[in-house]
Amino acid sequence: MYLAYRGAAALLRSAKTPCHGAMRNMSTSALPKYHILPSGDKIPSVALGVWQAGQGEVGLAVKTALKAGYRHIDGAWAYRNEEEVGKALKESGIARDKVWLTSKLWNNFHAPEDIESALDDSLSKLDTEYLDLYLIHWPIAFKKDGNNVLDVELTADPYPTWKKLEELVDKGKIRNIGISNFNIARIKNLTANPLKYRPAVNQVELNFFNPQPELLKWARENDLVLEAYSPLGSTRQVKDTLTLPVVQEIATSLGITPAQVIISWHVQRGTVVLPKSVTPSRVEENLQVTALPKDLFEKLETAATSHPPQRVVNPSKNWGLDFDIFDENWPF
Ligand SMILES: NC(=O)c1ccc[n+]([C@@H]2O[C@H](COP(=O)([O-])OP(=O)(O)OC[C@H]3O[C@@H](n4cnc5c(N)ncnc54)[C@H](OP(=O)(O)O)[C@@H]3O)[C@@H](O)[C@H]2O)c1
Repeated sequence: MYLAYRGAAALLRSAKTPCHGAMRNMSTSALPKYHILPSGDKIPSVALGVWQAGQGEVGLAVKTALKAGYRHIDGAWAYRNEEEVGKALKESGIARDKVWLTSKLWNNFHAPEDIESALDDSLSKLDTEYLDLYLIHWPIAFKKDGNNVLDVELTADPYPTWKKLEELVDKGKIRNIGISNFNIARIKNLTANPLKYRPAVNQVELNFFNPQPELLKWARENDLVLEAYSPLGSTRQVKDTLTLPVVQEIATSLGITPAQVIISWHVQRGTVVLPKSVTPSRVEENLQVTALPKDLFEKLETAATSHPPQRVVNPSKNWGLDFDIFDENWPF
């Protein structure tokens, strides 16, 4: 397994400059500011993530971000802060159609009859008539009123959920639909169906400790944009990431901060990146991405892909599942 991992890592490193079909505005000195999705919409490359951005702090973070130039907020119904995000967006005075808003469908609402009301709740909290992107948050469906009781049928077959989301695109409530936390097996399980709209993005954990080169390569080959969540290693591993000698060394040589090295690396790998911060100076810092010189990019890529992967977000056990969500082989 580890050898296969190293093999894929080597393949990825040997690839020329990331050349995702939908990447735009890329040159050796500039990073892509956006990706073009199958709908033709442009999704900005850097977003403010708002998971674990608490009440009373998320609004300031959003306002700081919009003032600094962010035009992409990555949220979710489950983060329980959509009202404050929506209020901050309104108060910023920036027109709704100038900001990309993402939300996510929670596990309890995958049944087709429950989806529209779950979406409407997010729309109402965000005080908006549409979302730019709505993701199936996890490839796991729970019964609506169950306490993490697995809905085996809807977990094994996400097509009924997807079909309803397609309807909501046609209704104008969502502009793009996508998935999150889907591995290649789960993606193929969905896309084997006669989809009207294919997934626009897959939002997954990507960071120094879990860089997922095989998934990145597969996504590139299949023209699927990946969004990098927990890009700095999340709260648990951010310190370990930013103090890595290779990161410090690159930061010093380029005169940028360690966080900027990591966030730039993500964009240069061809992903959309979603750093979260509620600290105004960090929110501003995290938007300043810059192309890393080829040798330094490759040095960081090699360092990231030369150790066994270590995932920071995996709720499988907490949810009482008897399988690992990220395992390519599921029991059904
Ligand atoms: N789809 C999913 O299942 C899923 C799962 C996880 C995350 N996400 C998305 O991805 C976003 C980011 O992931 P994440 O929140 O797990 O992790 P992250 O962005 O990798 O790390 C956030 C942590 O880094 C700190 N930080 C941010 N910028 C910094 C800087 N410049 N210098 C030093 N520390 C810095 C933050 O602290 P302060 O806030 O205190 O500044 C916070 O503790 C989430 O907000 C969410 O939108 C999605």
